[in-house]
Amino acid sequence: MVREYRIIEKSEIVPNVHKFVIRDHSIARKAQAGQFVLVMANEKGERIPLTLSDWDLKEGTITLYVLELGVSTMELIDLCEGDSLFSLAGPLGHEAEVKKFGRVLLGGGCFGVGGIYPIAKAMKEEGNHVTAIIEARSNYLIYNQEEIGSVVDELYITTSDGSMGLKGHVQDQLAELIKNGKRYDRAYFMGCTFMLMKCSEATRPQKIPTGVALNAIMLDGTGMCGCCRVSVGGETKFACVDGPELDGHAVDWDELFIRKHIYREEEAVSYQSHACRSMTGYERDRKTPEGGGA
Ligand SMILES: Cc1cc2nc3c(=O)[nH]c(=O)nc-3n(C[C@H](O)[C@H](O)[C@H](O)COP(=O)(O)OP(=O)(O)OC[C@H]3O[C@@H](n4cnc5c(N)ncnc54)[C@H](O)[C@@H]3O)c2cc1C
Ligand code: FES
Repeated sequence: MVREYRIIEKSEIVPNVHKFVIRDHSIARKAQAGQFVLVMANEKGERIPLTLSDWDLKEGTITLYVLELGVSTMELIDLCEGDSLFSLAGPLGHEAEVKKFGRVLLGGGCFGVGGIYPIAKAMKEEGNHVTAIIEARSNYLIYNQEEIGSVVDELYITTSDGSMGLKGHVQDQLAELIKNGKRYDRAYFMGCTFMLMKCSEATRPQKIPTGVALNAIMLDGTGMCGCCRVSVGGETKFACVDGPELDGHAVDWDELFIRKHIYREEEAVSYQSHACRSMTGYERDRKTPEGGGA
């Protein structure tokens, strides 16, 4: 039987953040907090890693949050409810380390706001006191706060423009909590590389063991291509099979930034010249499963 990866639900929950619910019983059955999948929108597309942000065993579905950045994420969000992905592989990577730590702090930015939800849930189920901090540029870009709020003990929101919660970023809220006497036994962060680095710097003085979900460029996701190579504590690790959670205090951030931006010029050219970019927003919105679209 040919496996179909049907999009059951798709919506833009806040500007540029698209929620996908995809049917795949097998992945839903095996998914663990912190793992990811590799997705291809179409036959000629690139395989891109996306975090398993939720799953439903009964329905056999998984939930992904996608931020449009370049060609592959654009091709993905161009698909509609009822369409199928060309391929879906997973779950991949190690699950996040979840055990009874005591007081756990979780931080999420961009896609990590979706991605920390299953980790928050699992940490709480283990009996931890869980604090979550989520960030966005402005209040209208905050998503998933009800879901996260329903499973944690404390939820803090930060925005760059100060329109909701503390003005600043996850690391600023964290610094404030520590200043006010809060202590944590474990921290875990998911989001853009800069945020991961800043948050790891913020937990270093207190020696809080810190896991970061590294988002190195990935190709095969199974440790074969070497694309996601990172240096951690002077050792070579592959983020796809040794991570994605790795020790934030030991990551060689400078090397990771260089490797992440290695194709920046090609990515910019291919995004600007992609056929979908010549469509107006109206044309893209009118693309329906029945109509097939452009
Ligand atoms: C383990 C993991 C989990 C992730 N989870 C999510 C998620 O849940 N939601 C989400 O929106 N994004 C997630 N990402 C990032 C996502 O994979 C990239 O944004 C996406 O691949 C960009 O592709 P693009 O063609 O749209 O953009 P491009 O224009 O090709 O790239 C934009 C930037 O994205 C990064 N990138 C490009 N290709 C890859 C690749 N193959 N692997 C990793 N990074 C790449 C590079 O830093 C690049 O500069 C995750 C990445 C990793 C490694
Ligand atoms: S993506 Fe190829 S080794 Fe990790």
